[in-house]
Amino acid sequence: MTISKNLRDRLSDAESVCVLTGAGISAESGVPTFRGEQGLWKKFRPEELANVDAFMRNPDLVWEWYSYRRKVVSEVQPNPGHFAIVEMQNLIRDFTLVTQNVDNLHSRAGSRGVVELHGNITRNYCIRCRRPASEELVQKSDKVPVCSHCGGFIRPDVVWFGELLPPRAYEEAEDAAGRCDLFLCVGTSGVVYPAASLPQMAKEHGAFVLEINAEYTDLSPRVSETLIGKAGEILPLLVRVMKEERHHEQT
Ligand code: OAD
Repeated sequence: MTISKNLRDRLSDAESVCVLTGAGISAESGVPTFRGEQGLWKKFRPEELANVDAFMRNPDLVWEWYSYRRKVVSEVQPNPGHFAIVEMQNLIRDFTLVTQNVDNLHSRAGSRGVVELHGNITRNYCIRCRRPASEELVQKSDKVPVCSHCGGFIRPDVVWFGELLPPRAYEEAEDAAGRCDLFLCVGTSGVVYPAASLPQMAKEHGAFVLEINAEYTDLSPRVSETLIGKAGEILPLLVRVMKEERHHEQT
């Protein structure tokens, strides 16, 4: 893959970088994405699994589905795409990683201060008193567990359809999108809002918006440039360019 002179310059000049990731960055680790032929939503119906009414109707089914996904993510490892983002954070002083993923792989790779827009599947809390549930309770429960303090059902700490994003996380994401000069959208189909509005927001504030995806998406017509390919190959390449250019500047 060739990196244009313009993109090289953007990578070397960037002082404030915001990265937005979606399920595509974890695909190479073996975590299924949501959309597309192999996507989770081809096999499962979100309205039966990923909303609060479904949970109240059939908590054991929803619990089982999240236990299965928790198991999948616990058995996989972060990939070169996740690690490249850690390296990028080490190079850029003002760096924000915003993710729609709940798989915890960015933190496991070593990213710091990850802004989790859709929560984190490894955390669980009581729907009644909102206390966090212990790892032990979660691990041992085939059926939905109840809170040891108040008896309420325990649910995963993820954002379901129809729920608001955690306000602090979204504010942080908006701030970063508004002040960055380079914005990367990695492995997201860009159809779920409000996360999908962040690239546009960054562009309106003057950032160069670079999309990295296995295919063109709804976002593609609205970004500055799209690189088609695997995140686990393109991101390490971008980091290499960033390092080279910054090294040249110092010498
Ligand atoms: P999607 O499944 O909608 O999109 C995944 C994207 O990753 C697609 O555009 C693929 O082309 C791309 N992709 C796949 N493999 C890739 C690779 N190796 N390298 C680069 N790109 C690759 O996932 P999201 O956009 O993350 O919401 O979905 C957004 C939200 O929809 C999710 O957070 C989830 C879901 O409903 C909630 O759970 C609230």
